[in-house]
Amino acid sequence: MPPKPTARPGQTESPPEPKHEIALEDLPGIGTATADKLREAGYTDLMELAVASPGDVAEAAEIGTASAQKLIGEARRKADVGGFESGTALLERRKKLGRITTNAKALDELLGGGVETQAITEFSGEFGTGKTQIAHQIAVDVQLPPAQGGLEGEVVYIDTESTFRPERIVDMAKGAGIDPTEALSHIHVARAFNSNHQMLLVQKAQELAREKPIRLLVVDSLTAHFRAEYLGRAELAPRQQLLNKHLHELLRFSDTYNASIVVTNQVSARPDILFGDPTRPIGGNIVAHAATYRVYLRKSKPPRRIARLIDSPNLPEGEAVFSLTTEGIRE
Ligand code: GTP
Ligand code: MG
Repeated sequence: MPPKPTARPGQTESPPEPKHEIALEDLPGIGTATADKLREAGYTDLMELAVASPGDVAEAAEIGTASAQKLIGEARRKADVGGFESGTALLERRKKLGRITTNAKALDELLGGGVETQAITEFSGEFGTGKTQIAHQIAVDVQLPPAQGGLEGEVVYIDTESTFRPERIVDMAKGAGIDPTEALSHIHVARAFNSNHQMLLVQKAQELAREKPIRLLVVDSLTAHFRAEYLGRAELAPRQQLLNKHLHELLRFSDTYNASIVVTNQVSARPDILFGDPTRPIGGNIVAHAATYRVYLRKSKPPRRIARLIDSPNLPEGEAVFSLTTEGIRE
């Protein structure tokens, strides 16, 4: 067992050691060439290999099914594929749930007290509804001390549309009473150039989270690259499969580091809806299943926006009104 890292600010104790930090090359009987082929096919860590099917691995690595089976077996042994967790352990984990304020009381209440850790929260809506502004605001608020609605944490911000604006962070940090330079230094931003890169950045985030108290991971936007790259009906299945994988990697991150995942999502028009709002968040069932909280935003009289909680199993449906101001999200 490696020595446990010491506790960092914002974390009552060190996060659990990830169970899959062994490189593919460390498996017996696997060379660099095979490892590269596997990675190219999307098997980037042991856990993914451990839960793969022999047929898929054989095809990806261009090896026989028997060899693939053996590799998967090795990965399972090394990856420590748990599966079962006692109710007591689960309860202990749930007790550590943290919440981050959105800086708007009504919106916090809608979410049951703020954006939760160990969960994915989705903000969807048309252009200009405030998705990116909310993501910026939460990236500032997570840095606050718990008494003020934060987790004294740092942020990984995956920006897929080049809409991250340090100037907005400065404005919002001032509004929140945090030193702007410090606030910026706690936000680790990466621009994702395509969906593959976006997924790779989650792996990179794991590395960062081992050194820094990352308590929030933002993906703005979750679906834009996937949507642009996988066009047409025939590509819908592979797109959804990849998006599913991405979301599960995000969920795993949130569990491992007791972090909040905030994703934004565009909407698309649904021609089959004749009455009411004809738009729906992209990603369909896949996002619906993975996201714990789904908030749908729409415009109201400027600068107001209306947030509605959709598909929540444990919170009452409702709406919250907030405003977009220069200092950030306001009641
Ligand atoms: P897309 O990414 O295009 O789908 O939109 P979005 O939902 O991410 O919208 P975004 O969060 O970028 O919201 C843009 C809106 O925020 C603008 O229309 C303004 O109302 C508001 N906003 C952005 N910056 C400022 C600012 O500096 N001051 C003020 N007062 N409002 C701002
Ligand atoms: Mg945006």
